[in-house]
Amino acid sequence: MVAMKGQKMDIQSVGVIGAGQMGNGIAHVFALAGYDVVINDISEENLTKAITLIGKNLDRQVQREKITAAERDGAMDRISTTSTLTDLGQTDLVIEAATEREAVKVAIFKELVPHLKPTTILTSNTSSISITRLASGTDRPEKFMGFHFMNPVPIMQLVELIRGIATDEPTYNALVKVVEKIGKIAASAEDFPAFIVNRILMPMINEAVYTLYEGVGNVSSIDSAMKLGTNHPMGPLELADFIGLDTCLAIMNVLHDGLADTKYRPCPLLTKYVEAGWLGRKTGRGFYDYRGETPVPTR
Ligand SMILES: NC(=O)c1ccc[n+]([C@@H]2O[C@H](COP(=O)([O-])OP(=O)(O)OC[C@H]3O[C@@H](n4cnc5c(N)ncnc54)[C@H](O)[C@@H]3O)[C@@H](O)[C@H]2O)c1
Repeated sequence: MVAMKGQKMDIQSVGVIGAGQMGNGIAHVFALAGYDVVINDISEENLTKAITLIGKNLDRQVQREKITAAERDGAMDRISTTSTLTDLGQTDLVIEAATEREAVKVAIFKELVPHLKPTTILTSNTSSISITRLASGTDRPEKFMGFHFMNPVPIMQLVELIRGIATDEPTYNALVKVVEKIGKIAASAEDFPAFIVNRILMPMINEAVYTLYEGVGNVSSIDSAMKLGTNHPMGPLELADFIGLDTCLAIMNVLHDGLADTKYRPCPLLTKYVEAGWLGRKTGRGFYDYRGETPVPTR
């Protein structure tokens, strides 16, 4: 359905799918900006954890005088959770932020679409998967976009807006307004594997893992070299742990498959860490071990 001239795409309620690192940050930012937010996850435990974490993060903002106590309370009141995906059907905007696996995302949209209002805009926070392909599995490719937030969402300024081949102008314009309302800055990217940020960042992280794999440096020397030698605020291995090594590997696979160039081949050591379940901060261990007081390099 093409929006008629002058028809308002007024977005008031937002459904967030996935209550992980990204989902909770996205819910936080939208609730603070005045939107009603419903978060869905298949894991009740992750939903509970997300609400606790949002509360903590909002408290920290109050302590730092970034927001008032009333703003924090208002934001918390606007957030609800559900383990029933179809409860998101009546929202105006859906942001899918579930695990970075295409089959998971496709199944989510398939289940949700029959329950949506015709005007609902569908988006995915995917770091790398084709927006055009995800859109084509829904009933509204013209109302489907990539809406790529950066981690941690409450702090990072950038949002990448990615139009699929069929995305229409009213949808794009509606998201530009949403980005303004949540106080962030948009960069538009074309729909090619990993878009802009991860197309550049992930090969660097992957190369840092190769540098470790080949014994050119250890975890500490690689991170120190990049922090002190190139003024990066975090070393690449520290950053990989922060992003999640499963997500990093998934993005490298999308680059490798999508661009069919061996320069994107994932480092076997990255695969090994993922196979071990050492996914970074979120599991307590990755290139660093986070289970003690201070992070300890694992190599
Ligand atoms: N981590 C990052 O730095 C980062 C940055 C930008 C974008 N992203 C993207 O955001 C998305 C989520 O990443 P994350 O880091 O939050 O992952 P995460 O592992 O922290 O969280 C994923 C959540 O999705 C839930 N989930 C899995 N299947 C589901 C389903 N069928 N229905 C509902 N929920 C489901 C899981 O239970 C989990 O809570 C991915 O697409 C990722 O590429 C991640």
